[in-house]
Amino acid sequence: MTSAHRTRVLTGITTTGTPHLGNYVGAIRPTVQASRDPGTDGFYFLADYHALIKCDDPARIQRSTMEIAASWIAAGLDLDKVTFYRQSDIPEIPELTWFLTCVTGKGLLNRAHAYKAAMDKNHEAGKDTDADVTAGLFMYPVLMGADILMFKAHKVPVGRDQIQHIEMARDMASSFNHLYGEHFVLPEAVIEESVALLPGLDGRKMSKSYDNTIPLFAPSTQLRKLILGIVTDSKAPGEPKATEGSALFQIYQAFASAEETAALAQAYADGIAWGDAKQMLFERIDREVAPMREKYEALIASPAQIDRLLLAGAEKARQLATPFIRELRHAVGLRPLASATTAGKTQSKDSRPALASFKQYREKDGLFYFKLVSPQGQVLLQSTGLSAPREAGQMIARLQQEGPPALAELRSHLLALSSEDERRAAEALAMIVESGQ
Ligand code: TRP
Repeated sequence: MTSAHRTRVLTGITTTGTPHLGNYVGAIRPTVQASRDPGTDGFYFLADYHALIKCDDPARIQRSTMEIAASWIAAGLDLDKVTFYRQSDIPEIPELTWFLTCVTGKGLLNRAHAYKAAMDKNHEAGKDTDADVTAGLFMYPVLMGADILMFKAHKVPVGRDQIQHIEMARDMASSFNHLYGEHFVLPEAVIEESVALLPGLDGRKMSKSYDNTIPLFAPSTQLRKLILGIVTDSKAPGEPKATEGSALFQIYQAFASAEETAALAQAYADGIAWGDAKQMLFERIDREVAPMREKYEALIASPAQIDRLLLAGAEKARQLATPFIRELRHAVGLRPLASATTAGKTQSKDSRPALASFKQYREKDGLFYFKLVSPQGQVLLQSTGLSAPREAGQMIARLQQEGPPALAELRSHLLALSSEDERRAAEALAMIVESGQ
């Protein structure tokens, strides 16, 4: 299946914490599983710009970025198949954030849940409405919109608390498309209903904010210790126990097969001692986690390798982002003055800008040549002499399909370009790629 036919699924993970079992069951495991579907084109990234909104501890952000990256890789994300990157390695994201900022109503952002919650808290405390509210928190949905719209994601798997952000991204995309032409895909939120919310050590939802988590890759001895600390009732060994409302049972269920779960339910009815049930839970989780833990530890011991993997992912992502931001810059009017049509907004809205075109020809020297010519007749690229027309044809096809990246690779067959010419040529190629012509 070509990438054009696959569903692009994109999600981001904010880099402020250490992955725990709740993250694994609720996000990492189902996402890695779904990414293996040949119909899915997965984009997964570490939302480290978002982390800055919530966390001003640089060491924690760095550590969390490493732990989350290593966890997702260790959990089986196939980096050859998906695109896995760090948000801050994509400079096009903040640029797109600005474009979207300029088409987003302030009133829309006033209604964002996270901002409203901060205002409500201030009101209750009798403080100024915006006390301790940064512009970063206020702008959070726009940055998230840029993450999603940059890669034309169709589906965005998120938690319930994030649905509003996806709706806002749709609003931003529609406003932009309305003003400047159809550039963005309107994304849809995907809520995994079937994924269980995992309870934490104290029986409430496992969450960093309740301080009741079990780290996914805690060493085996620590994992065991933490599991022994899960709350239970005071029923003695031999007394039948209720599965209903038992955190221990729910966590077991999230890792076990249906038969294993039925067996534990039977053991509850037969009065298993809490200590024995906890041992069963530990063994079941450790069985699933141990092979991944080994990979995780190897990665954590080699941060440079994680850097390399993430940079390779960013390079892949930027093959889309770089030409796309060029197209968008052009669309909003940030374009070379020489290439600009004098048409006003109302005209340019419906008529796509004219594209540069390739010309092939043969010179007196018997060699074959091609050039790329702008709609105004300016020569943007000029090949060296080639011995066969087929060679020229193949190079043109690559430039048309791959755009600016091919430019770099075919450099030895092109006459030298100044950096300004090269920028212009790259822009023209990006528009050709986008138009699909
Ligand atoms: N805001 C998301 C969260 O807290 C993380 C995130 C950032 C994200 N950018 C995204 C999720 C884009 C999906 C798509 O969970």
